[in-house]
Amino acid sequence: MKVAERVKKASQLKDWVADRVFRLKGEGAFEVLAKAQKLEKQGREIIHLEIGEPDFDTPINVKEKAIQAIQDGSTHYVPSAGIDELREAVCVYLRKSRGIEVFPEEVVITPGAKPVIFLSFLLLLEEEDEVIYPDPGFPAYSSIIEFIGAKAVPLRLREENGFRVDVDELRSLITSKTKMIVINSPHNPTGSVLSEEDIEAIARLAQEEDLLVFTDEVYSEIIYDQKHVSILQFPGMKERTVMLDAFSKSFAMTGWRLGYAVLPEEWARFLSLLVTNSNSCTCTFTQIAGVEALLNGEESVQVMAQEFRRRRDFMEKRIAQIEGIKIIKPQGAFYFFPNITSFGLSSKELADYLLKEGGVAVLPGTSFGHYGEGYLRISFANSLENLARAMDKMEEALNKLTKRGGRK
Ligand SMILES: Cc1ncc(COP(=O)(O)O)c(C=O)c1O
Repeated sequence: MKVAERVKKASQLKDWVADRVFRLKGEGAFEVLAKAQKLEKQGREIIHLEIGEPDFDTPINVKEKAIQAIQDGSTHYVPSAGIDELREAVCVYLRKSRGIEVFPEEVVITPGAKPVIFLSFLLLLEEEDEVIYPDPGFPAYSSIIEFIGAKAVPLRLREENGFRVDVDELRSLITSKTKMIVINSPHNPTGSVLSEEDIEAIARLAQEEDLLVFTDEVYSEIIYDQKHVSILQFPGMKERTVMLDAFSKSFAMTGWRLGYAVLPEEWARFLSLLVTNSNSCTCTFTQIAGVEALLNGEESVQVMAQEFRRRRDFMEKRIAQIEGIKIIKPQGAFYFFPNITSFGLSSKELADYLLKEGGVAVLPGTSFGHYGEGYLRISFANSLENLARAMDKMEEALNKLTKRGGRK
């Protein structure tokens, strides 16, 4: 296409496409994957450590339930809020795993975790509202807050604080317009986990300041050195909290698209209405498989979490041998978030270099916000063998950089 035509097309796009769409952000993982696949097409071998999904297969009993459900004819519309069996199973699961008393009317089933972010932000936020969210953090939070026209206020997660929320810093960001705080523990991309005291302090602050809390707990089952704590466990929090959980990470079900929100019953009715208007309902046989995952999936979850722990421990020792990289041991999820400032390149430059020079795909910390500069996200959702090879290649590429005088 000629330049003049391209310019005309771009300005037409601005005329036709709504302004809010230009406020949406993409996701680094998909962008790096596309670059890596391009190199693979040229015959290069790439080890994928940019991925944010378990490399395990969905548990066999869960797959069998879905197949059976299709054969039994569970292939039609169901209620927007989800099937009763799954809403009830969520209550049983949360009581057992988190000691939380929740009723089926307070549960809304969605096609994955992301619709809970999208639809519950639409449900709760007005244009003039401010929302405090973690930076670095999962990019969909600020993307959707800004898409709606509300103000996204980043709360910097600092390395010196183990990438946990500093409650005093959080307090200092609150204004008369603040409506909601977003928390995510275990945390993507840093692997940090909020302590019980952190969460209690956030709960107290939310009540003192009369704020809503959005708690993203999709990594609740992938936690290493402590038990997962939910802010919903604290008195007075149920009436001001939306909790998000999903099957994607816990049960290796990213492609099934199954998640849920737990929220006050009156809000749940409107959230269901948003589901009616967007998805109608979540896939029926996926929901039936979800019941099996929640009620009979514990063993598979433990096997997966155990393997992630082995990989984390391996990676901790191996990365420590690479000159110039500083890490904090992740307490949950399956990511390292090393400090790479000593190489004197931006996160993006270093991630590009590692992909081209070392054949290792990782994400720049800036894929997770402004305060991700100086870091990389390395996923260990890959086999021990591939992780070992990737670390060798990374070390070699980084040593080359150091020799060329690239390190401060
Ligand atoms: C913190 C966090 N929340 C939500 C999601 C979205 O999960 P889903 O694929 O179920 O929509 C992800 C996926 O990477 C995540 O890391």
